[in-house]
Amino acid sequence: MGRVEFVGVGKQYGDSGAGAVQDVNLTVEDGEFLVLLGPSGCGKSTLLKMVAGLEDVTSGEIYIDDRLVNYVKPGDRNVAMVFQSYALYPHMTVRENIGFPLKMHKLPKAEIDRRVTEAAEILGLRDLLDRRPEQLSGGQRQRVALGRSIVREPAVFLMDEPLSNLDAQLRVQTREEILKLHARLGTTTIYVTHDQIEAMTMGHRIVVMRSGVVQQVGKPQFVYDHPANTFVAAFLGNPRVNLQTGAIRLEADIARFEQGEVSFALGPALSAFARSAGDGAEVALGVRPEDISVEHAGSRKHEHDALVKLPATITLVEPVGSDLYVRATTGTMEWMARTEARLPVRTGDEVTLMIDLTHAHLFGEDGMNLEGAAG
Ligand SMILES: Nc1ncnc2c1ncn2[C@@H]1O[C@H](COP(=O)(O)OP(=O)(O)O)[C@@H](O)[C@H]1O
Ligand SMILES: [Mg+2]
Repeated sequence: MGRVEFVGVGKQYGDSGAGAVQDVNLTVEDGEFLVLLGPSGCGKSTLLKMVAGLEDVTSGEIYIDDRLVNYVKPGDRNVAMVFQSYALYPHMTVRENIGFPLKMHKLPKAEIDRRVTEAAEILGLRDLLDRRPEQLSGGQRQRVALGRSIVREPAVFLMDEPLSNLDAQLRVQTREEILKLHARLGTTTIYVTHDQIEAMTMGHRIVVMRSGVVQQVGKPQFVYDHPANTFVAAFLGNPRVNLQTGAIRLEADIARFEQGEVSFALGPALSAFARSAGDGAEVALGVRPEDISVEHAGSRKHEHDALVKLPATITLVEPVGSDLYVRATTGTMEWMARTEARLPVRTGDEVTLMIDLTHAHLFGEDGMNLEGAAG
C-alpha cells in the first residue's frame, strides 16, 4: 500500500514571505505515478521533503496509508527518496551501494543479497555489481541510485528531478526505465520535475504548482486541453500558447474578440463563455501554436465556424526539422504558428493565418479560464 494524503499542508521557512508551500490538499492514490510540475522555486522539493520527513510541516497534515506522519522519523515512514545528485559512496561497489540502506537496517546478509540481486536484475546492473561508481556512466549511476531505493521495498518512491543531470538521450532512456520499473513494481511514486515533457509523458496525473500554490491537478492531456488559468496554459506546451489580450463585443448570436483594429468572431463554443464574461469584458484569448497554420495551395484546414482567417506578415521562420515555427503579426497581434515542415514561406511574406479556435480558451481578467466559470 502507499496512499499519500495532504490536508491543508503548508511550509514556512523562517518567517519570511507567503510560504514556500501553501494549503496543499491532494490525495495520491496507491500505485499512482503523480508528477509535481512547476518552475524552479515553486515549492516542489519542499513538498516532497515534507513527505520524506526531511523538512518539518508548518501547517496541515500528511498521511501515508491513513497514518499521520508529521512527527514520524524519516526512517520510519516507509518511503525512499531519489535525488537529482545521486550521491553514491565512491569507495563502495555497486553491490555495496545498493545494499547499503539494508545494511543500515541490519537485515540478514542473505536477505540483502537476495534483494540486491533482484534490484540489479530489474535495472540491468547485474554485470556491473562489482564496479565502483567512477567506473560507471551517468545513467548507470542513476540506476544504482534507483536500485538503492528499490531494495528498501518502500510504500512510496519520492523522486526529485532524478534525470536532470543526464544528457538528453540518456534522459529519454532513463525516463522509459523508470516507467517500466513503475509498471513492474506498481509502487506509488511522487515525481518532481520542471520539465513539461517529462510530466506529460510520465504522470498518471500532474500537479502544476506556482509560488507554493497548486494551480491545477489532472490527467496530463486534460490539463493541456483545459488549463485552469493562463499560467498553466503557458507552462504546458512548446512553443508557448499565444495569449492575446483584448475585449469581448457581444452581438445577437455571436461574440467577437477585438484588439485595436483587429476583430473577429469567436465561434459558437467560445461565444458562450464570452457571453458569461459580458460585453466589453477584458479577456485573454489563448490559442496553441499547433492550431494555427499558414494558408497555402493545398492547405488542409476545412472552413468551419470556429476558423478565423487573418492577413499577417511573417516576421520569423524557424525550421526545427519536424515542424516549422512561424512568427507573424496582424495589427498589434503577434502570433506563433507551428506548421508543416518545408512550407515555402520566408520572413516578410504577406500570408493568411488560419486560426482554429476549436480548442482555444478565453481567460478572464483574473487569468482564470472562463470555461471553468461556466461550469
Ligand atoms: N532550507 C531553506 N531555507 C529557506 N528557504 C528555502 C529553503 N529551501 C527552499 N527554500 C525556498 O522555498 C521556496 C521553494 O523552494 P523549493 O521547494 O526548493 O522549490 P523547487 O523545488 O520547486 O525549485 C523557494 O523560494 C526557496 O528559495
Ligand atoms: Mg527542487
